[in-house]
Amino acid sequence: MDLRDKRIVVAIGGGIAAFKAVEVVRELQRRGATVRVAMTASATRFVGPITLTGLTGTPAVVDLWDPRYAGEVHVELGAWADAVLVAPATMNLLGRAAAGLADDVVLATVACARGPVIFAPAMHTRMWTHPATTHNVERLRAVGAAFVGPVEGPLASGEIGMGRLAEPARIVDAVEAALRPGATDLEGVRLLVSAGPTHEDLDPVRFLGNRSSGKMGFALAERAAARGALVTLVSGPVALTPPAGVTRIEVRSALQMREAIASRADEQDAVVMAAAVADYRPSERAEHKRKKAGEVQLTLVRNPDILLELGERRARLGAHRPVLVGFALETQDLLDNARAKLERKKVDLIVANEAAVGFAGDTNRASLVDAAGATALPAMSKHALADRILDRVRERLGVEAPPERA
Ligand code: PMT
Repeated sequence: MDLRDKRIVVAIGGGIAAFKAVEVVRELQRRGATVRVAMTASATRFVGPITLTGLTGTPAVVDLWDPRYAGEVHVELGAWADAVLVAPATMNLLGRAAAGLADDVVLATVACARGPVIFAPAMHTRMWTHPATTHNVERLRAVGAAFVGPVEGPLASGEIGMGRLAEPARIVDAVEAALRPGATDLEGVRLLVSAGPTHEDLDPVRFLGNRSSGKMGFALAERAAARGALVTLVSGPVALTPPAGVTRIEVRSALQMREAIASRADEQDAVVMAAAVADYRPSERAEHKRKKAGEVQLTLVRNPDILLELGERRARLGAHRPVLVGFALETQDLLDNARAKLERKKVDLIVANEAAVGFAGDTNRASLVDAAGATALPAMSKHALADRILDRVRERLGVEAPPERA
């Protein structure tokens, strides 16, 4: 019931995912919110206003000129709502909102919102990846809008691709996050996050890798972006969709990851290394697929330690920026190893997690280790842990904490 006493306008755009707005309304209500609905005329082709009226107990507003309202309905809705959620947000709606148009009840309500506005985009992959949409998302983020999704999956066209509406629970999580006090406490902070494994090629078809799914790093990127940071996500090969508004750089090997990070580190306020970087790579990559030949001996050579290099460079320069956060992935002596890494790599914070808990799932359990000592945290979602790590980054940057999070 985290949305108790909260008033949310769900503004529905005209896309096939509009029917899922019904589930979103139900989930908001389940968590305690009072909901009112505004819809574009196109949205009514996909879901009936009467359904939404029945669910919310108040008329779903479609017409800016609705005679049931004595005053201006969009001004009233915008002032009433603690947050406005646009779901689904079509390419057309994003474009019109980014242009500052207010010619229907959905856009006029967005324009009059006194609280946060959250967009949950849904559209065909080619529309989502269209440069105009990318540009419009950037413009809306620049004026403080939050985004949730889209995600990859089956689309209305029958294809599988990027552009599907995020799951209702994730959308409502994003509304909760946007309403949390201090929701944008990392406004303008430049943050680089690394995520996922690296793949070290043996030949054109085989590689050495590890079990990192990228979820921890992607959760950090998503939460940082939602809190207002300008996020660059350097990720190894993973099957995850980057959060909206995050700049993603895809790499494969440790050497590529080092190049991507080292060339950008000086522009960052903070770097968080959640990637599971391979410590070794094959001494050579065969040009053609290796043939079976009985027992095989592989020669491995050390990869550079990216975090260590960043820590040493910062120490050489006598600088305090970027703030450096590393992880320690251990199967034994977790805290001792984490403390050793903190010192050896000359970083500000180590997030110590056990391999058996940290990999692949949606939850993690970690201790935060810095020069002042170790804080053991309970098991929590990777998104919640991301927030705790980002709180430490914020403290280290000297960004003032809002009272509720302090
Ligand atoms: O991706 P998930 O499935 O969600 O799993 C998350 C995770 C378990 C991978 C993550 O929480 C985690 O622990 N990441 C760091 C894994 C790791 O490589 O730990 P390490 O103890 O070997 O390395 C210590 C630190 O140095 C890490 O920040 C690592 O990114 C960095 N490093 C390591 C080796 C190397 N060559 N260069 C580095 O920069």
